[in-house]
Amino acid sequence: MDLQGKTVVITGGSQGIGEHMAVGFAAKGASVLVVARGEDKLRAVAERIGGDHLVADLSSASHVDGLVDACLERLGHIDVWVNNAGLETSDAFADTDRDVVRAVNRLNLEAPMLLTRDVLDHMLPRRSGHIVQISSQAGVVPFPGFTAYCGTKAGLTNFTESLRLELKGCGVGLTVVAPGPVATDMWDRADYKGSYLEPALKRFRILQQLPIIPVEKIAAQAVAAVEGDRRHVRLPRRAAIYHALNNLPRRIVELGLIGVKLRRPAVGRS
Ligand SMILES: NC(=O)c1ccc[n+]([C@@H]2O[C@H](COP(=O)([O-])OP(=O)(O)OC[C@H]3O[C@@H](n4cnc5c(N)ncnc54)[C@H](OP(=O)(O)O)[C@@H]3O)[C@@H](O)[C@H]2O)c1
Repeated sequence: MDLQGKTVVITGGSQGIGEHMAVGFAAKGASVLVVARGEDKLRAVAERIGGDHLVADLSSASHVDGLVDACLERLGHIDVWVNNAGLETSDAFADTDRDVVRAVNRLNLEAPMLLTRDVLDHMLPRRSGHIVQISSQAGVVPFPGFTAYCGTKAGLTNFTESLRLELKGCGVGLTVVAPGPVATDMWDRADYKGSYLEPALKRFRILQQLPIIPVEKIAAQAVAAVEGDRRHVRLPRRAAIYHALNNLPRRIVELGLIGVKLRRPAVGRS
């Protein structure tokens, strides 16, 4: 997709990966609307890129339900939707507060699914659009401390790969971004001295399996994936084997479905 003049919505666009993606899309000539809870940071990002902002708490059902319509009111139409807002867990699952488990599921899995559902109502009739899911390497591998987080990211990844089969030929692209550790506040909140994760992270550092990805790099690759209509962004490269093994059953199903004609989603028929 040529991004010049396109409209982009990024949830969690006030800092970290979302902020850097907002800067990247704007540099390509797109109009970007950033969404998050904290208005000051959001407004600063929007002003810096000549974009717009909208305050919403995506762990709240009522904020999720009206969000796509609110974005359409601002932008007129939506070319690219990025589900990026996310929350980590970093304690033993049995010690994790039930409210945290619920909030992580709502923000990392329920909200992206519902927002994808709502934005498809808009994109399918136009037979055009691209949806980016910011998942994680934690959706492919287990890791103690990230347990609830791993569950939500595995769900987001496999939800999107299944949706890809349904959307074949509908004109709407899907990209799953699955990074390992990225240098943002989220990683700092999980990786500190005395953290529950510390011993496991120490082992993986010794095994050379924990390179920290610069946030600019993952954001630039995600923007480029939309431009190039690529299915996946996976960093670091040394994790490629995890992704290849995880993706194998999906490739087998995809091959098994060659020639099978699925009914087009009603909303997308025109
Ligand atoms: N950093 C990593 O190591 C890493 C690795 C793999 C995948 N990821 C994924 O990348 C995505 C972005 O992570 P990041 O590292 O950039 O995190 P971050 O620096 O903590 O930024 C998170 C963003 O999400 C927003 N957000 C948080 N809770 C929200 C809520 N309830 N409603 C609306 N917005 C909310 C935050 O703004 P407010 O707090 O103002 O709402 C902020 O803009 C996440 O989905 C994460 O799982 C991160």
